[in-house]
Amino acid sequence: DETLELRVALLDWYDINHRDLPWRTTTFKEEEEEQQKRAYGVWVSEVMLQQTRVQTVIAYYNRWMQKWPTIHHLAHASLEEVNEMWAGLGYYRRARFLLEGAKKIVAEGGRIPREASMLRKIPGIGDYTSGAIASIAFKEAVPVVDGNVIRVIARLRAISANPKDSVTIKRFWKLAAQLVDPLRPGDLNQALMELGATVCTPLNPSCSSCPVSEFCHALSIAKHDSTVAVTDY
Ligand code: ADE
Repeated sequence: DETLELRVALLDWYDINHRDLPWRTTTFKEEEEEQQKRAYGVWVSEVMLQQTRVQTVIAYYNRWMQKWPTIHHLAHASLEEVNEMWAGLGYYRRARFLLEGAKKIVAEGGRIPREASMLRKIPGIGDYTSGAIASIAFKEAVPVVDGNVIRVIARLRAISANPKDSVTIKRFWKLAAQLVDPLRPGDLNQALMELGATVCTPLNPSCSSCPVSEFCHALSIAKHDSTVAVTDY
């Protein structure tokens, strides 16, 4: 059905077009140690990415991982060191939560939980970060919804409801959950985020180079009604 075709189109596009970012590893490793390392990197990068652009995050991420390569290193850092490393990123609460979360995990045995529902119990980890870590590092089939994902899904499904309303946001989490790929959840989630950041942009989206334009209800409406634009969604 259409969901399966959408997934394939998104994953094929992502395989070719994803940016090589330092927290993305090319192959998924089955070893628990490798997954734990990856989970820590995804956690740090996704928290940094919440209010900061990818290009800015790269340097901060690399410095952070050099100083604290594992969650155990981070757990022994001081708040002053962490804040110093964060200088320029803003929203210092995020850095404090990372430190508190690392301390809690290390105090409880040092394993980052593999499931979104368990990750959510860690300070500072909400629906977005838990979904990102569980899907990207541990392949749990859970969705990740940020502003980019909301815009992509709103256009695909021609949903014009206010995306700041909490009932509407819940609806987007449901739609994203239906779309997430059971075998490659992390890649599917990142494909949606990447598509929103690079192709399905707020203004002047590049529909002609979009891998899922044939499934896009907003584009189809805009093609048939000149008073409607894809950017209305
Ligand atoms: N924005 C935030 N996290 C991202 C990710 N993992 N991939 C692409 N864009 C993102």
